Amino acid sequence: MKLGLNIDHIATLRNARGGVEPDVLEGAKLCIENGADSITTHLREDRRHIKDEDVKLIRKEIKAKLNLEMAMTDEMQEIALSLKPDAVCIVPEKRQEVTTEGGLDIAGQLERGISFVKPLVDAGIEVSLFIDPDKEQVLAAHKTGAQFIELHTGTYANSFGTDKEEQAFNDLKTATEYAHSLGLKVNAGHGLNYQNVHRMHEINGLYELNIGHSIISRAVFVGLAKAVQEMKTLVK
Ligand code: PXP
Repeated sequence: MKLGLNIDHIATLRNARGGVEPDVLEGAKLCIENGADSITTHLREDRRHIKDEDVKLIRKEIKAKLNLEMAMTDEMQEIALSLKPDAVCIVPEKRQEVTTEGGLDIAGQLERGISFVKPLVDAGIEVSLFIDPDKEQVLAAHKTGAQFIELHTGTYANSFGTDKEEQAFNDLKTATEYAHSLGLKVNAGHGLNYQNVHRMHEINGLYELNIGHSIISRAVFVGLAKAVQEMKTLVK
């Protein structure tokens, strides 16, 4: 499995003081040098962490795969088409949320999804939809023409170690198998950490895990290089 590193919270820390430290580009470089296979940035509508300039710089200076997380808005589609990241992951976005809560309801907006995804795929960008492990959503994601889905692992992560873990894990496994049967490639992420990530190996054929908060948190204690190396060992 590949490790996609979500570096949003390097920018969160930088923005806390409004200055330039820690440097987001330097952080992205360190992540790649220490085993991350790709860099993920979520350019939110309110720009609360990653800013437009960060994404442009990373695109220009880093050769590794760039995955741009974004909402399904005209503004973001325009940015993606001009920036041409290797991949985009379309996520739901609410201004008040602390982080992405729940997957995109693509089944409920399929026509919009189809017209949103097509120009991105035509531009040579890999498109992924961040959805809950739900059959109806997987099928709708497939119908948009996206090549990937990213399964929201939040329910699994929150239930890890409780009597709800097995159900949440089985939902991820079943959704992955169904997506594969449709020809979709499957990524996963949200809330994965050093304790709960190992079970992702029990799901055949997951392509990439996108992990952010736990790695940046661990970096506070052991440094970013070591935090990335440790996670890479668990993921690969
Ligand atoms: N994947 C997606 C689509 C996300 O929105 C996020 C959170 O921004 C992540 C993965 C990473 O989640 P976490 O920071 O909990 O590892």
